[in-house]
Amino acid sequence: MVDCVDRVLVSRETIQEAVTRLGKQISADYQEKQLVMIGVLKGGFVFLADLVRSVSIPVQMDFIAVSSYGASTKSSGVVQLIKDVDMSLVGKHILLVEDIIDTGLTLSYLKDLFQARNPLSVKVCSIFDKPSRRKIPFAAEYTGIELPDEYVVGYGLDYNGYLRNLPDLCVLKRERYAQE
Ligand code: IMP
Ligand code: MG
Repeated sequence: MVDCVDRVLVSRETIQEAVTRLGKQISADYQEKQLVMIGVLKGGFVFLADLVRSVSIPVQMDFIAVSSYGASTKSSGVVQLIKDVDMSLVGKHILLVEDIIDTGLTLSYLKDLFQARNPLSVKVCSIFDKPSRRKIPFAAEYTGIELPDEYVVGYGLDYNGYLRNLPDLCVLKRERYAQE
């Protein structure tokens, strides 16, 4: 294990079970609908890659990139859209695919932003959720696994841009982020 990682919090097997469950649910809910799954970069890319392969209906994909954290483990609360989608969303159902919901600020901003473009619907799917950390009320339509209030890395989630490639979700050593 990498030395800045304390322990595995959620194993790759448990993550895969949640992904499979969400994929089935989404396939059932969006049958006969034009679905665009929009991955929120960078953190959402691992989950989106797994999720689309658990979905059995035709689906289009695109990506957006946001920045709200800078090089810190705490949210700045400021959300910036760095990259937008390339395709028209008219007549489409949108599913925003994210790695984690923490304060709720990012997804509540993104949901409003896409709602304002008048697609048929906008919903959110996040593989991880830390409900105890909300600064504003926010609930995703699809959530994988609830987490306690700990800073996690792996499965797309980073610390200073690193550790996204860990296959399991791990807890960062406390001394690493206690300084921030
Ligand atoms: P929110 O706006 O506070 O809900 O933040 C959501 C974003 O913060 C996520 O998309 C992640 O990129 C990042 N984030 C929140 N918690 C963690 C964590 O424990 N580890 C790594 N990134 C996190
Ligand atoms: Mg993110």
